[in-house]
Amino acid sequence: MKKIPVIYWSGSGNTKMMAQAVVAAISSSGAEAFLTEVDKITAADAAQYPALALGCSAMGAEVLEEYEFEPFFAELEKMLAGKKVALFGSYGWGGSYMQDWEARVAAAGAQLVAPGVLALNEPDPAALEACAAIGRLLAGK
Ligand SMILES: Cc1cc2nc3c(=O)[nH]c(=O)nc-3n(C[C@H](O)[C@H](O)[C@H](O)COP(=O)(O)O)c2cc1C
Repeated sequence: MKKIPVIYWSGSGNTKMMAQAVVAAISSSGAEAFLTEVDKITAADAAQYPALALGCSAMGAEVLEEYEFEPFFAELEKMLAGKKVALFGSYGWGGSYMQDWEARVAAAGAQLVAPGVLALNEPDPAALEACAAIGRLLAGK
């Protein structure tokens, strides 16, 4: 069975709710998902998988969280070529970090399965459904 990691950083739980929606959709599409916080997996381990979902909220000044997620992603992006990737994250007032993040994924030679999913603060039902949709796309459904 296809195994798909859903790797996230979340300070107050908003991006975690999105990650859980991605996992649920992957699982109900017949693939195997596993949910992990970014500090529990190395970039080298993450790079073993052909399809992966990555979640991080907007932190700092419109950047990925700088202490755990950014170092992980900076390592992973060197190994992303040819992979299927989905991005998601919560933000509070801006959200432009997502466009920068999408551009990095594209420049790394990976295939974004859909535009990155953003939720304003706590994800509403529409944002959770958008997370489910990227889960289904990653699972190939
Ligand atoms: C230190 C800090 C920096 C933040 N920087 C941004 C930012 O640059 N742009 C933005 O839209 N939201 C920013 N936010 C708001 C968070 O992205 C927002 O609260 C989000 O819902 C947090 O999601 P999480 O619980 O998954 O971490 C910041 C929040 C904190 C605590």
